[in-house]
Amino acid sequence: MSRAIAMVLGGLLLAGGLSHPSFAEDLEAGRKVANMCRTCHGIDGYAQIPIAPHIGGEPKEYLEGQLMAFKTGARHHEMMSVVTATLSAQQISDVAAWYASFTAVATLPANVKETEAPAACVSCHGADGISVLFNAPNLAGEVNIYIDTQLKAFRVGKRQHEIMSEIASEMTDAEIREVADWYSKVVLEIVPSD
Ligand code: HEC
Ligand code: HEC
Repeated sequence: MSRAIAMVLGGLLLAGGLSHPSFAEDLEAGRKVANMCRTCHGIDGYAQIPIAPHIGGEPKEYLEGQLMAFKTGARHHEMMSVVTATLSAQQISDVAAWYASFTAVATLPANVKETEAPAACVSCHGADGISVLFNAPNLAGEVNIYIDTQLKAFRVGKRQHEIMSEIASEMTDAEIREVADWYSKVVLEIVPSD
């Protein structure tokens, strides 16, 4: 390897090392970015307006992936596309770490049994709507209209995902409403993680 290339590589490694602050610094930076989000999603990720989803306690990978999708235009929403346009990839990573640092606690209403949960969804979203995959969102306690809207967006191709587009394409309006109602009646709490 020539000395020039070795120096460039060394520089890149050094820059890479410096651009990754510690986890605590990420969180502190993320909390600051979250001030831009709190009127709609709350500072802890518990939504303050009905059209915004709860995001506290979701996997960091999922949050970061969706924010990048809004930023690049792969997913579109009049509010979120504007919000993410101004954020750097580092700020997106930081704010995703902030919201992921909470824990989402779901409780089924007293009169319903876990076995009544929609069988087609539980393997990934759980019976109570707490995701069992790092790249899937929680559905617990989301407003039914939000879940309904997202499933219809997958069905018509407005939002795309290899798994969800296929699942939603086979669902009727009534089936969509039924699963949306199931997850929206779960009681969600978002608490700081220990
Ligand atoms: C003016 C209100 C508003 C603000 C401010 C806002 N959001 Fe949103 N956010 C929304 C709405 C509404 C949606 C639902 C979009 C849709 O229907 O596709 C959303 C969706 C999201 C999603 C997708 C969640 C999912 O489960 O798919 C993430 C992640 C998110 N917002 C994070 C943020 C972050 C981080 C910030 C701050 C940097 C922020 N939002 C600022 C209103 C807002
Ligand atoms: C094999 C795993 C899998 C199954 C089964 C599955 N999902 Fe998903 N779901 C995902 C993944 C992964 C995503 C994230 C999609 C993305 O990145 O845009 C998702 C996203 C969603 C979203 C978007 C939520 C948000 O916050 O934006 C909804 C709503 C949803 N799924 C509902 C359902 C319902 C209802 C069922 C059952 C009929 C179901 N899913 C079955 C994996 C799954």
